[in-house]
Amino acid sequence: MKPPLLTTPRAVVTHFGCVEARQLRRYFKENAEHFAPWEPLRPAGFDDLPRIEERQTASLADFDAGRAVHLVALDPEGRRVLAVCNFTHIARGPFLACHLGYSVARAAEGQGLMYEVAAAAIAYMRDVVGLHRVMANHMPSNVRSARLLARLGFEREGYARAYIQIAGVWEDHVLNSLVFDDTGALPEAARSAKGEP
Ligand SMILES: CC(C)(COP(=O)(O)OP(=O)(O)OC[C@H]1O[C@@H](n2cnc3c(N)ncnc32)[C@H](O)[C@@H]1OP(=O)(O)O)[C@@H](O)C(=O)NCCC(=O)NCCS
Repeated sequence: MKPPLLTTPRAVVTHFGCVEARQLRRYFKENAEHFAPWEPLRPAGFDDLPRIEERQTASLADFDAGRAVHLVALDPEGRRVLAVCNFTHIARGPFLACHLGYSVARAAEGQGLMYEVAAAAIAYMRDVVGLHRVMANHMPSNVRSARLLARLGFEREGYARAYIQIAGVWEDHVLNSLVFDDTGALPEAARSAKGEP
């Protein structure tokens, strides 16, 4: 399958492996303080070009193997990275599910852009990848993330204590899911996995 190229009113969304490493480095460096309270600690050299290029190669291999879809939103001219949307731990068979993680540049926060990009990316995962469920979790204090997920239609399913190490500390997380069969017709892959005609 070819990596996706999606368009939204304010962005183009492409695969992480197809973006210039220098543009990605700028996004990570410029927003490091913005992301740090909500993300795992990054290893030394995380923002170095060779490390980014290694992750791009690994990401394309994950895409080809159906393990993960790492997407990047740029401005319509393709000059600047605006946001990132990562679909990981893709499980097929009777589960057809994955996890979603995301971030938006500080300069683009609070403008509905993350919603716009995430909605397009989720539609791709439903219609093209054929998933049934997307799971996304946030720290209880991450109010922006909670509001974004609610706007996207995610429902709270639970609460996990000491779930992930964020900024080096085990943090509780609120567990949420978006289930596609609530919206009507299932995509082809989901129908055949359920044994339906
Ligand atoms: C979490 C995060 C992605 C949320 O991004 P965001 O920009 O707040 O998300 P949205 O795109 O929904 O924008 C939110 C606001 O824009 C407003 N908005 C919606 N459409 C709009 C539009 N067309 N024009 C202007 N504003 C708009 C909404 O009213 C919304 O406000 P609300 O807070 O009242 O719901 C962002 O805060 C972030 O990157 N944080 C750091 C990393 C992080 O926390 N990642 C997630 C870990 S779980």
